[in-house]
Amino acid sequence: MKKSNSTEDQKLQEKLKLKGNLPKHIAIIMDGNGRWAKKRGLPRVAGHSEGVKSVRDIVEACAQLGIEYLTLFAFSTENWRRPREEVSTLMKLLLRTLKTETDELHKNNIRLRMIGDFESLPEEVQNQLKEAIKKTENNTRLNLILALSYSGRWDILQAVKKISSDIANKKLRKSEIDENIFKKYLSTSEFPEPDLLIRTSGEMRVSNFLLWEIAYTELYVTETLWPDFRRKELYKAIEDYQKRERKFGLVSEQIKGYGRNVFTLKR
Ligand code: IPE
Ligand code: IPE
Ligand code: MG
Repeated sequence: MKKSNSTEDQKLQEKLKLKGNLPKHIAIIMDGNGRWAKKRGLPRVAGHSEGVKSVRDIVEACAQLGIEYLTLFAFSTENWRRPREEVSTLMKLLLRTLKTETDELHKNNIRLRMIGDFESLPEEVQNQLKEAIKKTENNTRLNLILALSYSGRWDILQAVKKISSDIANKKLRKSEIDENIFKKYLSTSEFPEPDLLIRTSGEMRVSNFLLWEIAYTELYVTETLWPDFRRKELYKAIEDYQKRERKFGLVSEQIKGYGRNVFTLKR
């Protein structure tokens, strides 16, 4: 992670901050590493390595902007079905990145979190993750949430299973289940819902990312491939977000002054 940003960059960040209404939680589907490499006649892994540089830059920029939560889709449940070589390269890259970046995250007061099927990850990755999560657990600046071996459907299913056993064990009654209770069983229970979801590389789909949580999230899709997605691209996405009117199913007049607290409005 770079030590400090340039004056020009600080000015761009100041401008965004002055506008107010920064997203509290940004989620990103980091797509296009393979295409980036293919365009250059390189193996797919070269795209993944270059993608790590984008992760560094985006994490740093989010921390500097004061974004509270950043969720990165790094490896999906379905990605396990890619060619074995690619899966193992991705796991190695993840392991190496965790090893080299944890200290820097810690120095920058960034807290690492994880959502997804932890047990399905290789043991070395599990251990490294545990260490990084533990080391940074008291950090207070940015929550960096890695979605690993994650899918929205996986999360909803594991929640349903836990709910069923809590009902069977009389810890929960069926009549108590509402959206708030359900949310508590998701792996994202401690995080607010994303305000802005960015997808790089132009695909107009959510690919099994945060299905429950993005009900009212603003979507932003850019053609830029993930390895080319650096802080200036992030600022464009945030600027776009800042111009939008979020309505949560209501009419404009009701929204004024309420912002994200709109769900507290009486019916
Ligand atoms: C995103 O890039 C990284 C992962 C899904 C792990 P891709 O590897 O999906 O790149 P494309 O979509 O093939 O270009
Ligand atoms: C989504 O990208 C998953 C991650 C970015 C980790 P994919 O490349 O797997 O999605 P599809 O296959 O294009 O839908
Ligand atoms: Mg892809």
